[in-house]
Amino acid sequence: MSKLMNSYLSGFGNEFATEAQSGILPVGRNSPQKVARGLYAEQLSGTAFTAPRAENRRSWLYRIRPSAVHGKFTEKNHPTLCDGSFHELDPSPNQLRWNPFPVPTTACDFIDGLVTIAGNGSADTQSGIAIHLYLANQSMTNRFFYNADGELLLVPQLGELNLRTEFGVIDIKPGEIAVIPRGVRFAVDLLGDSARGYVCENYGSLLRLPDLGPIGANGLANPRDFLTPVAAFEDQEGQFELIAKFAGKCWTASIDHSPLDVVAWHGNYAPYKYDLAHFNVMNSVSFDHADPSIFTVLTSPSAMAGTANLDLVIFPPRWMVAENTFRPPWFHRNVMSEYMGLVHGQYDAKAEGFLPGGGSLHNCMSAHGPDVASFEKASHADLVPQKIDQTLAFMFETRLPLRPTKLAMESPHLQSDYINCWQGFKKYFTN
Ligand SMILES: [Fe+2]
Repeated sequence: MSKLMNSYLSGFGNEFATEAQSGILPVGRNSPQKVARGLYAEQLSGTAFTAPRAENRRSWLYRIRPSAVHGKFTEKNHPTLCDGSFHELDPSPNQLRWNPFPVPTTACDFIDGLVTIAGNGSADTQSGIAIHLYLANQSMTNRFFYNADGELLLVPQLGELNLRTEFGVIDIKPGEIAVIPRGVRFAVDLLGDSARGYVCENYGSLLRLPDLGPIGANGLANPRDFLTPVAAFEDQEGQFELIAKFAGKCWTASIDHSPLDVVAWHGNYAPYKYDLAHFNVMNSVSFDHADPSIFTVLTSPSAMAGTANLDLVIFPPRWMVAENTFRPPWFHRNVMSEYMGLVHGQYDAKAEGFLPGGGSLHNCMSAHGPDVASFEKASHADLVPQKIDQTLAFMFETRLPLRPTKLAMESPHLQSDYINCWQGFKKYFTN
C-alpha cells in the first residue's frame, strides 16, 4: 500500500477545527437544522457531559451517515485477546521476561494479531489497563474496529502503519507513539510486509501530559509536538465488517459503507501521535539517578493523588554525567507494577536477554534491577560524561498488580531462566 500524504494539527488537547471540504463546519452552533452538503451532525463524548471544563473532551463530527447505521452486533471469538477478567491464573511475584513474539506467517491483520499479555482492573470499572502486542502481516481490508473499553496507546516496534480513523489518517513508525481514543473507529494499514508493537489499553482517565512542577513551563513532552490529523473521509459503499470491543469481548456487525465518512470535525477529543525523539529529557547533572518518573511522557491519573492508573515512561538517548554515582537504574522494589518493552537498541541495566520486541514484567514489590554483568561494569566504570545512544526502552507503570494471561504464561517465548540474571552477585561485605 502506498503511503498517504498526511497533514496534522499541532497541540495537545486543543480545540481543533478541520474540514476536508471547505464550508462544512457550522458557524456559531454545533448542530444546525441542516448541515452543509447533506451531512449529519454527531457528538462523540470522551468524558462525562459534566466533567470539569479543564478535563472535558468531546468532538462534533459532520458525517455522510450517522454512526448508528450498521447491522446488529453478535459476539465474535478472538482466541488471543483476553476477555478482560485477567483472572485466568493467579499471578506470582516472580520476575518475568519474554522474548519477542514472532509475526505469524499465516494471514493476520492488526485485529487478528492482538495478543494480550497482562492486565489489571477492568473496563467495567473504568480503572486499570491491559497490555497487548500486535503482530500483523496484512492491512485491515473491508473491516473497521472501535474499542468501547478504553483508549489505545500504540508503541510500534517493527514496521510503519497508516491508521485510518474517523478523524483523519495518522502514519506512525517505530520511535513514535499514537493514541486512538475510546470509541473512535479506525482501520490499520501496513506500509511494509509486517508490523509488531505494543498496545496499552487504558480503562482509566484519559492520558494527559504530566504536570511539570519545578521544571517550569517547558520540558519533557512539549504540547506542540503532539499531532492530530486533519479531516479526511472515505465515501465508500460495499460489504464491510464493524468490530467492536465492548466489556472485554469482541463483537461483529455488518456495515454497508465505510464508517470513516467524517468530512469535517471540531473538538478536543481526537487521535494523536507523538515522536518520542522530541522528548526533552531531564536528568541529574550532579549525582544519583533520578526516579524514572522524570521520563514520563503521558499519564492517566487515578483518584489517589500522584498514583497513576498508567504512566508511559521512556528511556531515550541521553547523557549520563552524574558523579560518584551508580548510573544505571538502581536495585529497587516498587509498589507500582512495571511492564517494560524495548523498541530498539540495548537497555542500560541489562547486558543481555532483554530484546527489541520483548518485554519484562516486575510486579508490585518484586525485586529487580541491573543484572550481574551490568552491575560489575557500572561499578567499575570511569565516570566520564557518557552518551547512552541508539536505544529506546519504555515502561507502562500502573498502580495495581498486573495479572499475566494464561497465553503469556504458557508461551514458549517466556524466559524460564530470567531470574538467573540476578544469581552470582558476589558478597563484597567485610565485617
Ligand atoms: Fe523497575
